[in-house]
Amino acid sequence: PLPAQFSATLPIPKQLQPTRQTSDTDYYDIVQSAATAEILPGLKTPIWGYNGTFPGPTIVQNPGRNVVVTHRNNLPVPTVVHLHGGAIPHDSDGYPTDFVLPAASYGDFPAMPAMGDMPAMTDPQAVVTRQTRDYTYPTPPRAATLWYHDHRMDFTGASVHRGLAGFHLAHDAEEQELPLPQGSRDVPLMIVDRAFAADGSFRYPALDPAMRSTPGVDRDAGNGVMGDVILVNGAPWPAMKVDAARYRFRILNASNARTYQLALDDSTGFTQIGTDQGLLAAPQQLDAIALSPAQRFDVVIDFSRHRVGDRITLTNQLGSDSTGVVMRFEVARTATDTSSVPATLSTVDPIDPSSSVATRTMTFHRAGTDWEINGRVFDPTYSEADVRAGSTEVWTVTSDFHHPFHVHNATMQVVSRDGQDPGPYDRGWKDTVFLNKGEKVRIAIRFSDYKGRYVFHCHNLEHEDMGMMANFTIN
Ligand code: C2O
Ligand code: CU
Repeated sequence: PLPAQFSATLPIPKQLQPTRQTSDTDYYDIVQSAATAEILPGLKTPIWGYNGTFPGPTIVQNPGRNVVVTHRNNLPVPTVVHLHGGAIPHDSDGYPTDFVLPAASYGDFPAMPAMGDMPAMTDPQAVVTRQTRDYTYPTPPRAATLWYHDHRMDFTGASVHRGLAGFHLAHDAEEQELPLPQGSRDVPLMIVDRAFAADGSFRYPALDPAMRSTPGVDRDAGNGVMGDVILVNGAPWPAMKVDAARYRFRILNASNARTYQLALDDSTGFTQIGTDQGLLAAPQQLDAIALSPAQRFDVVIDFSRHRVGDRITLTNQLGSDSTGVVMRFEVARTATDTSSVPATLSTVDPIDPSSSVATRTMTFHRAGTDWEINGRVFDPTYSEADVRAGSTEVWTVTSDFHHPFHVHNATMQVVSRDGQDPGPYDRGWKDTVFLNKGEKVRIAIRFSDYKGRYVFHCHNLEHEDMGMMANFTIN
């Protein structure tokens, strides 16, 4: 039986405190460990969590600060940490084979690609460390709702499903000067779907539940793993008591495969202020939000339109039955509110596609149980594109299924969809662009100045694990 809706209280992930600080850098420690969580009332769900929690703790990166996170892997398998949406030196980006190996007592992982066989592309950057690794995150170019998650080759879907995901919120001075809702009225919402077994454990149809050797999922789940329970910040269909005031919600779809179309049942809609890579130039009013895996939409909802006692449900118009509902807001009290949404939020210079130094075509294609890009499954030894640091390229991406297209170490703008102007959900700087089945999407991609080997891939995590990923090299 499914748990009752709106009986759980929305949890807010804890903000991680630095262990030490220097003049320009904040240092953090995270231990990746197995734990249990009470997600369904009275049952214990085994999870893998950053500091044993799901979602993991929130890392806040303040203006001008660098962040170094020391991750310790106490799990029985290798892990890889990727900061999704960051501009990051290659050795901290979480390349899928840059493992943090578990303690020696868990043995070797012979099925992993042997590092000696890895190609020296621009430089031999595959690194394996045992148990701890420092990830360095320079000050990001702009404020944005980023997130960190596991990225282990072949096993990303299974690892994230067990709970290895958390928020990383980057602030900047420009955003801090705006009168947007803040403090307890600036709330991250991590939405995922999960299926549960009768004992409360997550049901993930892995071919190798120990996640040691054979990657992949049951044939039936090859399109992507979905569940019938919607969790927000780790709680099923939670309720949140709100003031009759404006709130900022940083909405992240951290689901393995499910795409949502979010709406409010009072049909007042959302004021969108930001997306994957930070603020829009100007706010836009939306009745609904289409959110594919890994995408973020920052929105403001003004509950002062409501009376105390009103309840507003966040729904999913693409869901059916249990997955058609996400969470509920309950207006608990009147309150003063000095926030507002200014007509100008930031500057978003449109990329001029004629500044592109190269054009490429990427074809996303299903091949039996594999998922391919340009006719191949992920091959760590092959670079699909060699690009120049800081340059802009226009890629034309086509697909025979729907896929969230994500590029590491780059920001993107949608130029056109099937020759038409991009729609409202494409606005702003993206790091994940939704590809509809059969569509031809032209995307301007600006690569960061960090050089080395990075990946781009489908962010349907089962597609990614089953091959839909490729290297590119920034020179
Ligand atoms: Cu969110 Cu390559 O990942
Ligand atoms: Cu896909």
